[in-house]
Amino acid sequence: MNVLRRVSFSTKVLVSFTLIIALSTGLGYLFISRSVDRAFADFSRRNLRNQGAVSVQLLSDYYARQGSWAGLELLLLRSRLPFPFLLVDQSGTVLVSPDPRRVGERVSSKELAEGLSVEVGGEVVGRLLPEPPLPSQGPLEQRFLRAVTRALFITAWVAAAAGLVLAVLLLRQLTDPLKRLDVAAREIARGDLAKRVAVQSRDELGHLAESFNAMAASLEKAETSKRQMIADVAHELRTPISAVRAGLEGLRDGVLQPAPENFAALHDRVLLTSRLVADLQELALADAGALSLRLEACDLRPILERIRATIGVELEDESVTLVIEVPEDLLPVEADGQRVEQVMLNLLSNASRYTPAGGTIHVSAAREGSQFVRTSVCDTGPGLSSEDLVRVFDRFYRADKARAGGSGGAGLGLSIAKALVEAHGGRIWAENRPAGGACFHFTLRVRAEGGQRAGGTRLGEGRRPAL
Ligand SMILES: Nc1ncnc2c1ncn2[C@@H]1O[C@H](COP(=O)(O)OP(=O)(O)OP(=O)(O)O)[C@@H](O)[C@H]1O
Ligand SMILES: [Mg+2]
Repeated sequence: MNVLRRVSFSTKVLVSFTLIIALSTGLGYLFISRSVDRAFADFSRRNLRNQGAVSVQLLSDYYARQGSWAGLELLLLRSRLPFPFLLVDQSGTVLVSPDPRRVGERVSSKELAEGLSVEVGGEVVGRLLPEPPLPSQGPLEQRFLRAVTRALFITAWVAAAAGLVLAVLLLRQLTDPLKRLDVAAREIARGDLAKRVAVQSRDELGHLAESFNAMAASLEKAETSKRQMIADVAHELRTPISAVRAGLEGLRDGVLQPAPENFAALHDRVLLTSRLVADLQELALADAGALSLRLEACDLRPILERIRATIGVELEDESVTLVIEVPEDLLPVEADGQRVEQVMLNLLSNASRYTPAGGTIHVSAAREGSQFVRTSVCDTGPGLSSEDLVRVFDRFYRADKARAGGSGGAGLGLSIAKALVEAHGGRIWAENRPAGGACFHFTLRVRAEGGQRAGGTRLGEGRRPAL
């Protein structure tokens, strides 16, 4: 068994093919040559009956006239007629033969049974046997049979060789794509993630090659985004950490006064760093499908009221109006209240950042079809370009490049919102308002039985808007 495991796939298939071909041509050869032999013997026997019928009649007349076989041999000799028979009497003793040495010999009972009976007045007076005996044949017949056997033999070899050539061709068709896949898989394992295989057929092997390429592509994409992510994380952490380091060195060297405002600035930087780390952890949990959600009947109205009570006031200070619109009869959704609030705060944080003084932020919730409630946060800011509309939910994506690395966020807020909404089975998307400004919408599933108010939802410890 172990030896078999070490033998290559092509060798196994080739050996199987060779065995099948050898067996089928060998058996075919045997079967056909046996059939030819048998058919030939049958043919000879029929021939004998046809030829012998006349002789039997003549012999029977002779016996009837003479009353015995005496003088028959001499008569046949004189007439020089071909007589390819043995004439034997009832006991099997040869009376007449083309070979005079056989006269007086006894033939076997099997041979005797094959003979044609010569009868006179209903009584068997002798038997006529073919000479040479069946099934062995005369030189002509043997030459014919030899020619047939040789032709059969050659045909068998040609068929076997053709079968083997076809088998090798077929095997190459089978193993070449597998070998290419093997080489590509090894190169990918060695780190060349750009390696792909050519898809040359539309059969199962072609599908395998397509699946392999798709797998390699997603591996490459995952590797690229992992590298990008690490680079982004390092970059995002460097900025606040450098600021804290510079601040601490300044305090140590006496360049910076140990005044409360300096400590507050340093504290802000440290908060920024820990917020970034918390965000990343949240995203890692979402990736692993391990976000903990306390799903329950969640009423959106109190959440929005709380938001109005806190952020609304701060927005007013910046001359931005916050309008919240929720129908009285809005059904509760199946959600974790803290997480929903976290999503809304993320969206509001962005909206407030982009809404100029005198602008409005419009928050609304309404039924979307029979199964969902849609919450929208719309602003009167600059809106989003068509590229941003697609990419704003990407990690570390910031449409406003000038803000990158500055005082703004890391570009993680929307990707966290997306992960949270999707973990609830909902959908989140962005669009521009015809009148100007951006709109972010997300849906949550309506609680099946409805009715109850969510117990224990409180303002989450999630991200606070940077107002
Ligand atoms: N209401 C909006 N109007 C215009 N652009 C927006 C709006 N909301 C988001 N964006 C763009 O989408 C980008 C990604 O937003 P996201 O909330 O993910 O990151 P961030 O706000 O920059 O940082 P973070 O949320 O991590 O503090 C933003 O940098 C901004 O360019
Ligand atoms: Mg944000």
